[in-house]
Amino acid sequence: MTKTIDFNDRALSLGLARVSEAAAIACAPLIGRGDEKAADQAAVDAMRTQLNKLDISGVVVIGEGERDEAPMLFIGEEVGNGTGPGVDIALDPLEGTTLTAKDMPNALAVIAMGPRGSMLHAPDTYMDKLAIGPGYAEGVVSLDMSPRERVETLAKTKGCAPSDITVCVLERPRHEAAIAEIRATGAAIRLITDGDVAGVMHCAEPEKTGIDMYMGSGGAPEGVLAAAALKCMGGQIMGRLLFRNDDERGRAAKAGITDFDRVYTRDDMVTSDVIFAATGVTDGSLVPGIKREVGYVTAETILMRSKTGSVRRMQYRNPV
Ligand code: FBP
Repeated sequence: MTKTIDFNDRALSLGLARVSEAAAIACAPLIGRGDEKAADQAAVDAMRTQLNKLDISGVVVIGEGERDEAPMLFIGEEVGNGTGPGVDIALDPLEGTTLTAKDMPNALAVIAMGPRGSMLHAPDTYMDKLAIGPGYAEGVVSLDMSPRERVETLAKTKGCAPSDITVCVLERPRHEAAIAEIRATGAAIRLITDGDVAGVMHCAEPEKTGIDMYMGSGGAPEGVLAAAALKCMGGQIMGRLLFRNDDERGRAAKAGITDFDRVYTRDDMVTSDVIFAATGVTDGSLVPGIKREVGYVTAETILMRSKTGSVRRMQYRNPV
């Protein structure tokens, strides 16, 4: 009989921070250099090398793409040195490739780990997302509400006026109608050009970030990563997959999805306790970016465990 090794989240968490640190540091020389691909490649290489040093039998469930599209960290790739527990890995070595290439805020290296079978195998499609921070009753706002209803309900529950609410939205033509509807309530909008994992995470710390709610469509894999982050930080996220064509429906079917209209809650996307690490690449409102000074590099990581709700901010300085 094969011996099952427990997912020791506490012991593995420091290793996970090393993985996101390595990815962020590797792409640092490419910040502001206008080359998305090179920055992403540097982050992918470093993340994979570091991940393969961990005592895990890992499988990438959210990764760089399907095996035929991504040579490294593809969905289904086995990672780790094979000596530890069976785990699911969700990762984005560089969340915000364009942000990095243009040296704009909130690019992150991101990774989450949980026991085998703990994370939704989200296909590479869009997902309609709605997120709020901790302290609200489950389902107080929903994807079935209009943007106006969401803002008005959240304001009423928070005990403030809609004009005191700030919503974070990806700036895309597809969001123009929603943006107009949100603005008509009097609410403010923080438009971001990329990086909706960070966008959702902002909702968990509204006092610090000034953001109460995230809404709009973005990558489904990023939705699962954001769900893992909120499982640790507190807060709700709901997501519904969006399909533009049969190829995307095929990807979902291949990932084992049968109900294409299902609304996934945070705990549907991430079903058991996970650990999550994000290292700042460019400066952001959650974590500062990589600092380079003569002879040294400094990185800051937010490292979290959902089992305990612990949030650690770790600064790492190393000679280069
Ligand atoms: P990359 O880091 O892969 O460039 O993704 C950035 C991102 O902004 C995600 O955060 C978001 O989910 C997605 O792209 C949105 O997709 P699109 O640019 O097609 O609207």
